[in-house]
Amino acid sequence: MRTNTAPDTTAGATAYRTATAGSLRGAHAGERVRLAGWVHRRRDLGGLIFADLRDRVGRVQLSFGPDWTPPDVLESAKALGVEWVIAIEGVVVARPGSNANPDMATGEVEVHVASLTVLAESETPPIQVARGATEELAAEELRLRYRYLDLRRTELQQALEARHRAFQVVRRHLTAEGFWEIDTPMLTRRTPEGARDYLVPSRVHPGEFYALPQSPQIYKQLLMVSGYDRYFQIARCLRDEDLRADRQPEFTQIDAEMSFVNEEDVFGVAERMIAALWREILDVELPVPFPRLTFAESLERYGTDKPDLRFAMPFIDVTDAVAGSEFRVVQDAVESGARVRGIVVEGGAALSRRELDELTVIARGAGAGGALYLKRTANGTSGPLAKAVEGERIAGFDARTGIQQGDLFVAVVGHFRSAVPGAGDRNRVLGGAEVALDALRRHIGDVRGLRDAGAHAWVWITGFPLFEWDSDGERLAAVHHPFTAPEPGDVRAVLDATRNGPPDGRAAWELYSRGLSSRAYDAVYNGNELASGSIRIHDAALQRSMFQALGIDGDEADRRFGFLLEAFRYGVPPHGGFAFGFDRLVMLLIGAQSLRDVIAFPKTTAARALFEGAPSAIDDHELADLHIRTIPTEGAGAAGG
Ligand code: AMO
Repeated sequence: MRTNTAPDTTAGATAYRTATAGSLRGAHAGERVRLAGWVHRRRDLGGLIFADLRDRVGRVQLSFGPDWTPPDVLESAKALGVEWVIAIEGVVVARPGSNANPDMATGEVEVHVASLTVLAESETPPIQVARGATEELAAEELRLRYRYLDLRRTELQQALEARHRAFQVVRRHLTAEGFWEIDTPMLTRRTPEGARDYLVPSRVHPGEFYALPQSPQIYKQLLMVSGYDRYFQIARCLRDEDLRADRQPEFTQIDAEMSFVNEEDVFGVAERMIAALWREILDVELPVPFPRLTFAESLERYGTDKPDLRFAMPFIDVTDAVAGSEFRVVQDAVESGARVRGIVVEGGAALSRRELDELTVIARGAGAGGALYLKRTANGTSGPLAKAVEGERIAGFDARTGIQQGDLFVAVVGHFRSAVPGAGDRNRVLGGAEVALDALRRHIGDVRGLRDAGAHAWVWITGFPLFEWDSDGERLAAVHHPFTAPEPGDVRAVLDATRNGPPDGRAAWELYSRGLSSRAYDAVYNGNELASGSIRIHDAALQRSMFQALGIDGDEADRRFGFLLEAFRYGVPPHGGFAFGFDRLVMLLIGAQSLRDVIAFPKTTAARALFEGAPSAIDDHELADLHIRTIPTEGAGAAGG
């Protein structure tokens, strides 16, 4: 990451200090300074006492010695404890070469202390702030409980500094491109982003609730109707969903919307913004435009809509090359309609037995029956899949895969999801053999060192399907959200299917089976979805039709989205936009492992705030004010975490 090499010592000057501890350098030797901060560490060497003083900028070594520190100050220095807050006055002194500490930015100097004031003592902290390179971090739960102490750690400080800088780059960049930052309400109506809403009861309107926004989606579209044709917001979004490592119930988006645009216009704005972030924070010049890949191609080649394109290794279908072989396992599967797909691992014939066994474990963990492999060495072809590639089949297999001597082919046999809906999708949760082969591809990428943190592979995934099939409800659901426009060629199908109101189950299935495409897109970085967006519907009739296709009839549409539909009667420009997950962006920018490492006060995976203690029970009389009664559930209150 780019760092400021010549810090301005006076930037933090206040009534308590003339300089910041972390900004002192060799050039400051001889200066008299006043500093204030925390005692990071203290070492008592009999006559001499050393203490590292820490502030937000960094740390400097304080030295208390009989030649420059008055006896009473030396005495007080002996009592200093870690994490005490102190102010000192002293002289910056160059450390002789042998004493310099190359591991500290301030390592060329120390401060000879003449006076000391204790501003606040500290009890022994429950988690350690000063940590040796080999010392382990305390358990995360404990660190979240004492977040204000954990935030004193350098790693978290650096993460929050990067986050701050990212905020500024985004604001500066989008402002320069003519965007206005406009904030939108937190107490609002429900917005459909596919998660549950967090609801807020209204005290003054008994029985009524606000919803906290899952995103500013409807507001930003309304701003387009109002003519504010380039809007952005660094928006807080709240979603009550099952949490995963890369999700938080409360997260931040860089949300933008613009009018009179097509996909390329939107991509251009987003790419320039991302390039600015990578340039200013990482000093990396990203090539733009980013590549584009259709959803169908992505699924076919990488088995996912979030491909990691730091390396190639595309899926290769060898079903035809192995069909009709004597290998029963493969042959039976192929006869029942399964496909055999795999990847060529260059030089992979050298993988050890243990590494090969691990492939099966990974494939099983991802839902497949296992992984089959074939090795090509100087001695010929070997491995379980070799049984299906014998004799005259070898030439066809080689031509199909391009496998060379020394390579490995790793395959999964099963039903691969296709971008075109098939009859088999009806009662099946989508996700089949492609999930396992994607997991293998990523795993092999890791093992072969192809998923290098220094490589930056952005890609736009375009042409997402318009609908997915909700087999529980026997109805259609929007793949992105209901405001996403269909591809122009697919508009008629939506209008026709909804001419007489919401389609019944059979008609909905027929509409789904047509495999309609939307104008939605995602931005994917190194295999992570970082943004979504779309060109929107801007025609009131088509929007109503879309709601109907999703099983929302006219009355319900008016009830839930009446304000949008009404606005659409008064001149809507064509528009579209995007939202980047800001926390994910910062996490990946700085190579952090978890969203919790880039959010000042995050929630646990059980959606709890351990430090503030939220959520918490509310007294009955307060609930009564809100016209609410709780229904006791068995085991309630026992759930921890
Ligand atoms: P979407 O729901 O895809 O789109 O969200 C956009 C991006 O936000 C991030 N994200 C999250 N980050 C952390 N925790 C979460 N729980 C979480 N959920 C989503 C992801 C995702 O790509 N209104 C649309 C955008 C649009 O159409 O303009 C929307 O919110 O990085």
